[in-house]
Amino acid sequence: MMDLLLLEKTLLGLFAAIVIAAVVSKLRGKKFKLPPGPIPVPIFGNWLQVGDDLNHRNLTEYAKKFGDILMLRMGQRNLVVVSSPELAKEVLHTQGVEFGSRTRNVVFDIFTGKGQDMVFTVYGEHWRKMRRIMTVPFFTNKVVQQNRHGWEAEAAAVVDDVRKNPAAATEGIVLRRRLQLMMYNNMYRIMFDRRFESEEDPLFLKLKALNGERSRLAQSFEYNYGDFIPVLRPFLRGYLKICREVKEKRIKLFKDYFVDERKKLTSTKGTDSEGLKCAIDHILEAQQKGEINEDNVLYIVENINVAAIETTLWSIEWGIAELINHPEIQKKLRDEIDTLVGPGVQITEPDTYRLPYLQAVVKETLRLRMAIPLLVPHMNLHDAKLAGYDIPAESKILVNAWFLANDEAHWKKPEEFRPERFLEEESNVEANGNDFRYLPFGVGRRSCPGIILALPILGITLGRLVQNFEMLPPPGESKIDTTGKAGQFSLQILKHSTIVLKPRSF
Ligand code: HEM
Repeated sequence: MMDLLLLEKTLLGLFAAIVIAAVVSKLRGKKFKLPPGPIPVPIFGNWLQVGDDLNHRNLTEYAKKFGDILMLRMGQRNLVVVSSPELAKEVLHTQGVEFGSRTRNVVFDIFTGKGQDMVFTVYGEHWRKMRRIMTVPFFTNKVVQQNRHGWEAEAAAVVDDVRKNPAAATEGIVLRRRLQLMMYNNMYRIMFDRRFESEEDPLFLKLKALNGERSRLAQSFEYNYGDFIPVLRPFLRGYLKICREVKEKRIKLFKDYFVDERKKLTSTKGTDSEGLKCAIDHILEAQQKGEINEDNVLYIVENINVAAIETTLWSIEWGIAELINHPEIQKKLRDEIDTLVGPGVQITEPDTYRLPYLQAVVKETLRLRMAIPLLVPHMNLHDAKLAGYDIPAESKILVNAWFLANDEAHWKKPEEFRPERFLEEESNVEANGNDFRYLPFGVGRRSCPGIILALPILGITLGRLVQNFEMLPPPGESKIDTTGKAGQFSLQILKHSTIVLKPRSF
């Protein structure tokens, strides 16, 4: 009975929406000069033609058909895709304020408390304040210097564990599991001055499971229909209920086991000196001063969990896969470290900057296997103009950064994993956005502030692995499967492959 009522309501809603949409689109058609794209139908827009899987490769195909700027009408949402360095510059730099907001959707609204965080909030006072408050505790060279010994120790612990495990050198292991623990430790040291002893640590397991669920639920294309077509939203009820439960559990876990624990510790011991402060101490100070509230504190923890840990882990995993599939590159990297640092001398953060081939391997990994290939979606709060077209307010703007970095019009054989390009024809290109063809961390106001931590962590981790092991595909296989798995704006490797690590002796 309930379902019938719901169906009846939905059909009525659909009918009303068709009429409204037809009227609106007539009006709009007159007023706006919209970017090219497939012809939309009422209600659904282009959704039925385009489908749910709006990944960087599909959007590249659309760009080849419709051009550097195109528009898809996904139900009620406008999606603008930008696919040239010039237009990326316009969106991220020249009109950085106009396009500096973020779209939200029904699912992200749940996980971010409707934009009470930093990563997914609109461009404005709140974002500015959050970014300012997070800068000193997370995004400065001082943070790197305070934490680099910790990262080196975590990478050394990975090397030790692998050396101790005889299976690693024979049938192989899923190294990713251990690297995941390492990345959690790298970030939880910065945030809370905490680390997890082992992969079996119950708190780590809980955290990992909830973060994994959050990531899966948010990146899935499964909920698009309810987001695009509001009258279908009732059918998402079950999905959104699960999202809310995961969100509540996660925020409670951050609060009970980490933030409150830290408060207890500092209230009994006091924060000794500036040097011993961890990130959350700074954030709690901002709360005490009344600059932010307790929810904002917890959403900062939430943001770091998603923005920092997974992205860097995926990039490490992609890097390892490419090094295994290109043994000659792996060997060249090992030779560079042996020559410039010394055989058996463990590389440290300052070493990473004087190893050009290591830098090139990291850059090439981030180019071909961009973890956030469409950047985090941008949005214009007000009607705007781009390339002579009208962009209606609150359009979702995707910059196809992956295509910019993999377009054969701009790169020599972009499909090849060839770090040498960054020492030869592309030697001036940096990861910080000095070239609009290469934006693995974005550029401009909403660019990734975590680049300052991510690059040294990538260098230390890949460097230590290559100098201590020969990394190979599992027995009987000649390559690792590098099929990707794309999400709303993420790209990770589909299979967490078993790999063989033969320890080197010095
Ligand atoms: C290899 C690792 C990483 C990659 C590839 C990456 C990439 C990105 C990209 C593409 C964006 C969006 C840029 C835009 O929308 O224009 C972003 C935003 C962000 N990243 Fe990263 N990131 C990485 C690591 C980190 C780390 C380690 C942290 C924190 C410690 C971090 C924190 C953030 C934050 C807070 C934002 C949101 C900035 C804003 O909206 O103002 N990221 N990242």
